[in-house]
Amino acid sequence: MNLKHFIYAFLSISLLLNCSSGGDDPSEPNTNNPDPDPDTSGKVTYDADIKSIMTSNCTSCHGSPTSQGAPMSLTTFSQVKANVDKIITRVNSSSNPMPPASNGTLSSSEKNLIQQWKDDGLLEK
Ligand code: HEC
Repeated sequence: MNLKHFIYAFLSISLLLNCSSGGDDPSEPNTNNPDPDPDTSGKVTYDADIKSIMTSNCTSCHGSPTSQGAPMSLTTFSQVKANVDKIITRVNSSSNPMPPASNGTLSSSEKNLIQQWKDDGLLEK
């Protein structure tokens, strides 16, 4: 290899290296995180959050079978899901609350969980 070839090769290589490293950088931060909310683990679900609220506060009457005049069972995912709008109305009612006044009330965080469950799409698990 004579000097001319050597210089030519050296310049080509440094140009290539320069181009490839300079060209990649600006686009990388954008492609690393394309989904602004990829985490579904924070959502309220029937199995994790709602079932225990029903068992502790509702199924003594809304059991299977029902008792004390309760009109429907709230012991399965599909039963609770089918009644969610009525449930939200009644647990937040001050004139006609569920559970009935003499049986205590849900805490505000329990009421919020039921509303959040609906907002998250009524997930089972
Ligand atoms: C002490 C028994 C008892 C408990 C505990 C109880 N309920 Fe009830 N529930 C009833 C009775 C009786 C009725 C029917 C009379 C009425 O609507 O007030 C009823 C009615 C309802 C209704 C109205 C159904 C309709 O078709 O209009 C909903 C919704 C409801 N309950 C949800 C709940 C939820 C949710 C809980 C727990 C947070 C709960 N109940 C706890 C006895 C109970």
